[in-house]
Amino acid sequence: MSLLRPNTVLRAVRANPLRTAPTHRYMSSKSEALSNPSNRLRNGIYGTLLLGALGFGYVEATDTRSSIHTYTIPPLLRYLFSGDDVSRAGPEAAHVFGLRCLSVLYNLGFPLHERGDHPYLPALNSTLFGLDVNTPLGISAGLDKHAEAIDALYELSPAISLLEVGCVTPEPQPGNERPRLFRLPTSQGFINRYGFNSVGAETVARRLRERVRRFARSQGMTEEEVLNNPNIPASLREGRVLAVQIGKNKWTSESDIEAVKADYGKCVQKLGKYADVIVVNVSSPNTPGLRSLQENKPLTELLKSVVAECKNVDRARKPKVVVKVSPDSDTPQAIRDISAAVKAAGVAGVIVANTTVTRPDFLTASPQTTEEEKRIVAQEMGGYSGPALFPRTIRLVEEFRRQLGADIEVIASGGVKNGVDAMECVKHGASAVMGYTGMVYGGVGWFGKMAKELADEADKIRKEIAARR
Ligand SMILES: Cc1cc2nc3c(=O)[nH]c(=O)nc-3n(C[C@H](O)[C@H](O)[C@H](O)COP(=O)(O)O)c2cc1C
Repeated sequence: MSLLRPNTVLRAVRANPLRTAPTHRYMSSKSEALSNPSNRLRNGIYGTLLLGALGFGYVEATDTRSSIHTYTIPPLLRYLFSGDDVSRAGPEAAHVFGLRCLSVLYNLGFPLHERGDHPYLPALNSTLFGLDVNTPLGISAGLDKHAEAIDALYELSPAISLLEVGCVTPEPQPGNERPRLFRLPTSQGFINRYGFNSVGAETVARRLRERVRRFARSQGMTEEEVLNNPNIPASLREGRVLAVQIGKNKWTSESDIEAVKADYGKCVQKLGKYADVIVVNVSSPNTPGLRSLQENKPLTELLKSVVAECKNVDRARKPKVVVKVSPDSDTPQAIRDISAAVKAAGVAGVIVANTTVTRPDFLTASPQTTEEEKRIVAQEMGGYSGPALFPRTIRLVEEFRRQLGADIEVIASGGVKNGVDAMECVKHGASAVMGYTGMVYGGVGWFGKMAKELADEADKIRKEIAARR
């Protein structure tokens, strides 16, 4: 009779309950297995491979240069958030989700960033508003409207030298009804009519103040010492500039210039000491009547009052004032009027430009354009952003540079896709180049890639000049 018959085993267990036959056999076989040198080697190899894979995954996932951030995440977000933001999460939810992810990862100590060295930096060092900056590149307004992810965005790449948060209104306001953001993936553009949804100047000021306090603690300084040190920019980072964009509340009538001035003034009083640059938005197409403030008389008055308000800001380094204009105010007369107002008010720069209410043919020219994209282009109100803006951006940069001369910064914004486009802007007179839509489609590594391409373009020009000598 076999010893392995169940009742034989059970009897043995009952006779000596502490020495249960199966456990003993298991334990001894396990320790034998562990002490076997070939098994130890195999386990060691598996363990190392697993750790290596986890380490590689971590490095890849947090490196903005890795291909998943260019080729996987942007289309995945579009797929996961493919609703209309009313019945199902859509582009606006993707915007909020993406920004929160960046912010949470940064706060947990796993920021997305450009690993390795940044060979483009020496070629791109520039000055902007009298500050030394890493590069002439930046993120334009509307991406971080409520100043929620400033450090996470700076951390993405040292190429991001200018970050414009906002638009911030004096009082909180909800903006337009949803849906208010529409994708045009075939032509890599957007139509948006957010309409200055803002948490208001008080909340944004609190966020900016907390950021200064955290920085002060980390440096063993007080908040006042940070604010009163002319060598510490409001960005709190060397080589970076923080711009805060301000606008008026929807219910403030654009024809009541005193009320308009009071709205912008309130924003400067609350936000001015946390900004290197205050950007006056008179160009959003989604706040009715706002763009009429670009006419010479109201614009001169408004800009003068913002410049005066900025001079009173309680900080060692006072914020510079910049105005952001509409690409649709592009007649020679409109450009002359805006330029005259800028000069008369002592404004430091102009951002050309915001989104357009026009719908260039290019938007639906591709045979791949879907019926839904055609419907959006034909029916949805709002401002278009994306590559179709680029020819107008170049024309406006050139015109404003001609009108404003060399001492006022002209900053390009609109349809920039890559470093070659950025170089075109610089060649036509731009002091800096900003992007938004390109990064949403191109992923978080977009700025680093653009900086490298821009440095390559600069190198080509240098070689051409040297060859001609
Ligand atoms: C969803 C969205 C929101 C925007 N919000 C603002 C804003 O609040 N203030 C502003 O001046 N521009 C805003 N813009 C315009 C951008 O700052 C930028 O000027 C415009 O998109 C053109 O550049 P781009 O083609 O590189 O995106 C917004 C753009 C988008 C797509």
